[in-house]
Amino acid sequence: MGRNQCSRDLLLLFSSSSLGFLLCFFISFTSAADAYQNYTVGDNLGWFDNKHNPKINYQRWVAGKNFSLGDFLIFNTDKNHSVIQTYNLITYKRCDYNNANANDTVVWSAGQPVVAVPLLKEGMTYFFSGNYDGKQCKHGQHFKIKVLHGLGLPRPSRPSMPRRRPKPVPVPLVAAGTSRYPIR
Ligand SMILES: *[C@@H]1O[C@H](CO)[C@@H](O)[C@H](O)[C@H]1NC(C)=O
Ligand SMILES: *[C@@H]1O[C@H](CO)[C@@H](O)[C@H](O)[C@H]1NC(C)=O
Ligand SMILES: *[C@@H]1O[C@H](CO)[C@@H](O)[C@H](O)[C@H]1NC(C)=O
Ligand SMILES: *[C@@H]1O[C@H](CO)[C@@H](O)[C@H](O)[C@H]1NC(C)=O
Repeated sequence: MGRNQCSRDLLLLFSSSSLGFLLCFFISFTSAADAYQNYTVGDNLGWFDNKHNPKINYQRWVAGKNFSLGDFLIFNTDKNHSVIQTYNLITYKRCDYNNANANDTVVWSAGQPVVAVPLLKEGMTYFFSGNYDGKQCKHGQHFKIKVLHGLGLPRPSRPSMPRRRPKPVPVPLVAAGTSRYPIR
């Protein structure tokens, strides 16, 4: 988006000068680092298992992306697939959140077509579909990312800008169960 636009506009404007190129490069570089990003999970393929679509490969989608605090992951999916976020590697590996701790696992969806998840904690965070006893998760519907500090979390909007309504923050629908997972 910003980067392509920049390349087009500025390179047209300054096509004869190397200064224009440098300026454009500088703007591209800073705009990527200066703004929170929204990442559409799987791009056009959405958030599904690989039985639903054999092209699904979330590890490939994650590769080369830098995720930071304040960014959003946008999951485009359907009622048959869910979005579970966990900070617990064991919960992730089990593809099962039923016995997860409420303090490390969030059930984001119960069938909405679009789920926007803000990245609020640095470090590893894991996502999977919890439907069908982990079957979809085991069929490729899972990925892990490392969230970097980046700009840090956005500050609440300042009172000096009264016309701007605060952005709605998505709230998890259901908290996962509170019991601990069984030790195997
Ligand atoms: C990112 O997604 C969130 C949640 O849907 C939305 O509030 C925000 O405006 C989006 N930001 C951009 C830059 O699209
Ligand atoms: C991600 O961060 C690394 C290290 O700072 C950087 O080299 C790379 O270009 C970044 N990638 C993207 C897509 O911003
Ligand atoms: C829902 O997902 C399950 C498991 O992945 C699959 O067997 C079933 O066909 C799907 N149903 C629909 C309506 O897509
Ligand atoms: C989360 O809850 C479990 C069980 O109640 C507890 O053992 C664990 O220390 C808690 N973790 C954090 C990070 O609060």
